Amino acid sequence: MVELNILLVFHQKLVKNIINHGITVEYTDIIIQVRSTMLTLSPELKQKLATPLKIGDLEVKSRVLQSPLSGVTDLVFRRLVRRYAPDSMMYTEMVNATGLHYVKQLPRIMEIDPNERPISIQLFDCRPDFLAEAAQKAVAEGADTVDINMGCPVNKITKNGGGSSLLRDPETAEAIVRRVVQAVDVPVTVKTRIGWTDKEINILDFGKRMEDAGAKMITVHGRTRSQGYTGPAKWEWIRRVKEVLSIPVIANGDIFSVEAALRCLEETGADGVMCSRGTLGYPFLVGEVDYFFKTGVEKINPTPIERLECAKEHLRALWEYKGESGVCQARKHLTWYAKGFPGAGELRGLLAVVETVEQGCDAIDRAIEQLPAS
Ligand SMILES: Cc1cc2nc3c(=O)[nH]c(=O)nc-3n(C[C@H](O)[C@H](O)[C@H](O)COP(=O)(O)O)c2cc1C
Repeated sequence: MVELNILLVFHQKLVKNIINHGITVEYTDIIIQVRSTMLTLSPELKQKLATPLKIGDLEVKSRVLQSPLSGVTDLVFRRLVRRYAPDSMMYTEMVNATGLHYVKQLPRIMEIDPNERPISIQLFDCRPDFLAEAAQKAVAEGADTVDINMGCPVNKITKNGGGSSLLRDPETAEAIVRRVVQAVDVPVTVKTRIGWTDKEINILDFGKRMEDAGAKMITVHGRTRSQGYTGPAKWEWIRRVKEVLSIPVIANGDIFSVEAALRCLEETGADGVMCSRGTLGYPFLVGEVDYFFKTGVEKINPTPIERLECAKEHLRALWEYKGESGVCQARKHLTWYAKGFPGAGELRGLLAVVETVEQGCDAIDRAIEQLPAS
């Protein structure tokens, strides 16, 4: 039997109406949320979640992390995520270490806000010396940790020996971690997958090697390289990694909701979870998970109108930060926001080709006018 919990939430829209020195509340609307089950934290999880995540000497007051996402997790996106998840560790997009060796000016993807903490700069490459040099530049920019990408499946990266191809070359991966650890005094972490193919799942040995080489945390995306992003993430492998390592293990893959984040922690015993595609067009997710982990209470999800207001803010901020190219980049974000309400498909069509901020905001405003107020 499905247990139905009916949550009465007084969503207070306090419209102040001053009449003859008095203040009256004009209306208060009531939202009824029906959930099939209420999520609850076990006493053991509560205890774990009440303690900070320790990455080497760094203490992070949240056990949910925003993943690095190339083309997405720029400074503008991270500001939105951090509004709801101020304590969470966030990552830049991955930065090519060899590229850094040859340029005088650092790429904009390494830019971080002065008070943006905690923040990690993620690097990719296969040359230990270039990675060490790049890591020093990352620390000079203000990175609290340096993360090495050993999970990217893209051919352009793997054919040059970087990303997930390091899973097939654990000696080089180990040499990278040792060299980078020597070069910087912030914690060095690794983000990887469970193996190259289903027949080559080597994360247990690989993870141990990373730990022995000096990595202070490992994030495991529970898919193989050949899976790309398809098929379910195999969390059972993350549980096995957690059983053999002493450093914190962060579980990644298929965390699209608070419920999935909780289930993943329960099933893997991981030290934290990292949200990825679930945050596309939804910068609220990390904050929702963080709030639940800290309080045991689920936040009310934003309404379609709130999400669309956020989309407009995202568009404006990208334009302010990157100019016209920011508007082009905003197109994909805008289409991700436009989901889950009547007329969303039509709106996506318009947003996919916006040329200016005004065009984008007008299209969204027109869609908002068609939506019910709550
Ligand atoms: C658009 C996109 C960009 C990504 N960029 C990076 C990246 O720069 N560095 C990285 O380590 N992983 C990157 N990833 C992988 C994600 O961080 C994550 O490991 C993966 O999406 C699995 O989590 P999910 O199933 O919750 O999406 C990217 C994934 C996507 C979809």
